[in-house]
Amino acid sequence: MINKSEFCKCLSYIICIRREVYLKIKKIIAAICIFIFLCGCTSESDIDTDTGTKQILDTQTVCDGFNRIAVTFYGNTETQIGLSWYTPYKDNYGNDVEIIEKDTLEKQDISYEVQYGYGEYDEESMYHQTVIKGLTPDTEYYFRVGDKKSQEWSEYGSFKTGSRDIKEFLFVAVTDTQSEHLPDAYFSSATMKTAVSTAETPAFIMHSGDFVDDGGDESLWSAQMNSARDILMNNIIVPAVGNHDADNNSFWQHFMLEKTNGHKTTGIYYSYDYGNVHFAVLDTNKTNDDDTSYIDDEQLKWLDEDLGKARENGAKWIIVNTHRGSYTVGEHASSDRYAGDDGMRLRLGRILEKHDVALVIQGHDHCPSVTKPIAEGKASENGVIYINTGAAGSKSYEMGNNMTDEYYDMFQYIDVEEREKDIYQNFAVVEVKESKIKVTMYELDITKTENQLYILYEFDINRGD
Ligand SMILES: [Fe+2]
Repeated sequence: MINKSEFCKCLSYIICIRREVYLKIKKIIAAICIFIFLCGCTSESDIDTDTGTKQILDTQTVCDGFNRIAVTFYGNTETQIGLSWYTPYKDNYGNDVEIIEKDTLEKQDISYEVQYGYGEYDEESMYHQTVIKGLTPDTEYYFRVGDKKSQEWSEYGSFKTGSRDIKEFLFVAVTDTQSEHLPDAYFSSATMKTAVSTAETPAFIMHSGDFVDDGGDESLWSAQMNSARDILMNNIIVPAVGNHDADNNSFWQHFMLEKTNGHKTTGIYYSYDYGNVHFAVLDTNKTNDDDTSYIDDEQLKWLDEDLGKARENGAKWIIVNTHRGSYTVGEHASSDRYAGDDGMRLRLGRILEKHDVALVIQGHDHCPSVTKPIAEGKASENGVIYINTGAAGSKSYEMGNNMTDEYYDMFQYIDVEEREKDIYQNFAVVEVKESKIKVTMYELDITKTENQLYILYEFDINRGD
């Protein structure tokens, strides 16, 4: 018979063993959780060679540690693409790219150089950027970013190169996603998703700035870009910098764009050709020292030359993307920096009119509007049309009512409805044809139970044959 003291000894031994096993299991579970958290490893992925569609096929690791991924135009849109992404900080990690042609599913033999460094506002992460060259015009590709050594990769995204032979295409215009927190980011990412599905096959997404409410808060960039991950990995984005994105070095680390005149601190200005259209994208944070206008002389000189070259090269249309805009109807319109001989309206307007710019797409004032054609500060038969698509995020403005009747008479469309925050989201679809541009401005009203998405206004710009 076992006595009482032996029974107690035995029991404590069993408890001790069980506790050891329990602690071991707990440690293993914790290690697995940390591994999953660090790598974000979720599933396996590859491309189905029969259908050409993404499908889970083998055992490669997909790692959402590769995040804030964006695809951009960089120089020649027919043969090049810009890629940028972030990873957790690790030495010599995450600098690999794989490109696969969609039709043939052949892995492309490409050489590329990745620039990387600490995130300006996220020292625990590295930003990585590269330009992929030598692509074929008018061709669809899959891509992924990752780390060959550890075989950790993002899922596959996709993009399509442009071609000068493309005479008709459409693109989506959104602005002021301006997330202040994660729910905001999801809200505006949902708008972008609706915009893309409304357009069906947009050539790219134009964003007119203020991606986030505070460009110096990296958590907002992460929230915005990761909540729109699927959209940003499968569409090319053409961003203009907003005043909320202007914190030093914040903008360029998130988007791989050509840095015209080496400028990159407050944002970037650049241009590109897609099909028969020339696009110029401005940085309205870059001002002269006297700060009398939202655009500086160096940038205006570049713009004049850039648009002149585009005309020499036979561009059929010119479209400009800018955050702060000369003709809007929200509360910002009354700023002195737009007015007078030194203000942005006349200084920028004269260059746009000289080169027969068809359309200026603006952000910043969060209230939809469309001008009549404008030249020399007045409605004119032959002039430039300026639109504000309204905000794609939760922050809506009402019409400012702080300008003269003469000013408001220059608009063919002004939204006079009350625009409550967190209800309306806006975007536009711009359809380019050889002799016509059609702009359709949409609104989403999330309080409606039916027909949440409706057309606010549509108009055409015609330029002969
Ligand atoms: Fe703004």
